[in-house]
Amino acid sequence: MSHLQPVRGTRDLIGGTCRRFRHIARTAADTAALYGFEEIETPLLESSAVFLRTLGETSDVVSKQMYVFQDRGGDEITLRPEGTAGVARAFISEGLGQHLPLKLFYAGPMFRYERPQKGRYRQFQQFGVELLGVDSVQADIEVIAAAARVLRALKVDHLAKLQLNTIGDQESREAYRRNLVAYLRGHVAELSEDSRARLEKNPLRILDSKDDGDRATLRNAPRFEEFLNEASKAFFARLQDGLSGLGLAFEIDPLLVRGLDYYCHTVFEFTTDAIGAQNALLAGGRYDGLIKSMGGPPTPGVGWAAGTDRLELVIPELTPAPRPVSIVPLGEAAEREAPALGERLRAAGLRVDIGYGGNMSKRMKRADKIGARAAVILGEAELAKGVAQIKDLRQGTQREVALADLAKELARDD
Ligand code: HAM
Repeated sequence: MSHLQPVRGTRDLIGGTCRRFRHIARTAADTAALYGFEEIETPLLESSAVFLRTLGETSDVVSKQMYVFQDRGGDEITLRPEGTAGVARAFISEGLGQHLPLKLFYAGPMFRYERPQKGRYRQFQQFGVELLGVDSVQADIEVIAAAARVLRALKVDHLAKLQLNTIGDQESREAYRRNLVAYLRGHVAELSEDSRARLEKNPLRILDSKDDGDRATLRNAPRFEEFLNEASKAFFARLQDGLSGLGLAFEIDPLLVRGLDYYCHTVFEFTTDAIGAQNALLAGGRYDGLIKSMGGPPTPGVGWAAGTDRLELVIPELTPAPRPVSIVPLGEAAEREAPALGERLRAAGLRVDIGYGGNMSKRMKRADKIGARAAVILGEAELAKGVAQIKDLRQGTQREVALADLAKELARDD
């Protein structure tokens, strides 16, 4: 690989693509603000310990995907693969426990060493919310409603389906885990290599396997719902009632378990058929044990994160940016005057480009190329008279305007 190419799985976002990313992040932040989420920006670098046990040492993210390195001082550092553990770390190290309940919104790049494909990158962007300090299901309902509203604001709600499941409390999970392992031990020969490796360490992840043989074996496996205790069942029932009450449609997917270890009770994903294999646009769940497991005060939490790169693939085209005007100075005196004229017009709120060099035809071509709606032609004779020509590039008409009136005239044309 040439060192002058972007690193595999990373990319340059240029022009219109960048604008689409900004639109998504801004729409998400505006929508989160409607719910009272405050922004938080945690570092891209964290101590590796922040992720190791919290996400689960046998999770794909920790075992295969993290960018881990020793810095020059010998500290073990990880480029953050996701946002939740960093927010939990900040909650503890900044003493945010004084301010519960806490509603946080974040957006920014994440890093995972995965095989790149459509909708999957090694550096990708997420935005997400975390609601800390509320153990009631109202919090789950509210964050899922916020997710649905973001997708609606981005005009992709018709492409996204909400998949929902519960993985219960710890007692239910342990009961299920024992039974699932007992069943799968009887079918070890039919399991894929990956699933065999997970059998002792992280059997619930086998439910998530894409391997056809595994899926066939799982068809007769014990089901989670049989092992949910009463409290877990009641929590899930209240969640479904709450979502239905808000008119939010969902499907229950009993095999949805999510790839990170910190979850309990609610897990969900908004998926789409519009991209291909990487079908999750937004995903999350409840993580009541996470902050305690990191040494903080026991604090429940629920939240989600969305993949900006995937949303960018499916949002509709944006309305084009307003077209600029282009100043076309002809001759030395006009060239000297052009920057000041540009500044005056920009101060009046106009988008202004200046044709820097070449003859009239070259400068007019540049105006055309950047999609200018008008050219302000400033020649020596015009300058001496205190006027300029406005050439309307949409209609091809031209008129003379006093320099003092230019801003007003151009604003009127827009
Ligand atoms: P996650 O499911 O790992 O959850 O990621 C959330 C979303 O990030 C995915 O649904 C997907 O849209 C996007 N994403 C993940 N990996 C990639 C990738 N390699 N390329 C492009 N997009 C990707 C979490 O990260 C949890 N922290 C979510 C959460 C917040 N749970 C509770 N609070």
